[in-house]
Amino acid sequence: MESVITGPGKMPGRQKGLEPGIEARGLARSFGTVQAVESIDFHAAPGEVTALIGPNGSGKTTLLLMLASLLRPDAGSIRIQGIDPVGDPRAVRAILGWMPDTLGVWESLTSREILTTVAALYGIGKTQARVRAAELLDVVNLGQLADTPARVLSRGQAQRLSLARALVNDPAVLLLDEPASGLDPGARVQLRTLLRQLADSGKAVVISSHVLAELDEMADAAVFLSKGKAVRSQRLAESGTQGRGYTIVSFDLQALRRGLESSGLEASYDPNLENNGGSAKVRLSGDEQAAALLGMLVGAGIPIAAFAPSSGLLEETYLSLEDEMP
Ligand SMILES: Nc1ncnc2c1ncn2[C@@H]1O[C@H](COP(=O)(O)OP(=O)(O)OP(=O)(O)O)[C@@H](O)[C@H]1O
Ligand SMILES: [Mg+2]
Repeated sequence: MESVITGPGKMPGRQKGLEPGIEARGLARSFGTVQAVESIDFHAAPGEVTALIGPNGSGKTTLLLMLASLLRPDAGSIRIQGIDPVGDPRAVRAILGWMPDTLGVWESLTSREILTTVAALYGIGKTQARVRAAELLDVVNLGQLADTPARVLSRGQAQRLSLARALVNDPAVLLLDEPASGLDPGARVQLRTLLRQLADSGKAVVISSHVLAELDEMADAAVFLSKGKAVRSQRLAESGTQGRGYTIVSFDLQALRRGLESSGLEASYDPNLENNGGSAKVRLSGDEQAAALLGMLVGAGIPIAAFAPSSGLLEETYLSLEDEMP
């Protein structure tokens, strides 16, 4: 697996004096009367996984296509490792890996043939292309299906082939549009591990997804899109400092209320109509406060049935943005 990943020093296309990673300013693109992307600033640093999050139709794919040199912006500027994809799309494509949300393969070819063909398009020689294809088939766990026609691949297998295809040229910048869709839980964990390794080796990885809990564990930064605009950026290490919602379930809601009030905590209460129990939602500063509160409640003899963060960090930001939106 190691051999498919090069360190930053060996990154192709990394030239002296060029800004690494992705830098976009004031990007806009409309389709007829639909303003798909409206004045977006976007940055993705090398060595990091940057998540692009937003509801259906918020402009994620449109933004990724522009970054990938596949769609011309109406306004704004983009630099991929310092190179302008509008001015020099060939140079950008040489250092970029693109995984679209739908595969679109040459269906009569086998997975191995598709990868060697793509390698040839990148100017990789025949012998080296075969080596590269074998390595990548191994990375995405398609070795067993390497020589069957791509049309028989399941959706998840086709996604994995698409990921392998995006890695053929060992790109310095990797753009993935909903890469986890269609993957089973095992393949999702593998994807997460692989993307982390790729980022750790110095690549700038951008991933769009709706599966927020998954991004929580993988992403270093997140950009939230809504109606074609970037409405919030978040560093995941920092997001915990704003506190986090917890849900506490007890068989005795009155006792739980007394316990929380004695700690000076504001909470919203949701009684269970069938018995005296129910749940409370509180905002805590972090793990330490959560541990102390749980210890206190249990120590006070309050019957606690569940005590957990209400949702993932990204999910919380996402939902809070929905609240703010008109
Ligand atoms: N080729 C096109 N022609 C016309 N309208 C388009 C085209 N591509 C995108 N749009 C419109 O632009 C808006 C943004 O679409 P986009 O595909 O970028 O959203 P998305 O965030 O990727 O959504 P999803 O989560 O469903 O993939 C939508 O309103 C969409 O209908
Ligand atoms: Mg999309």
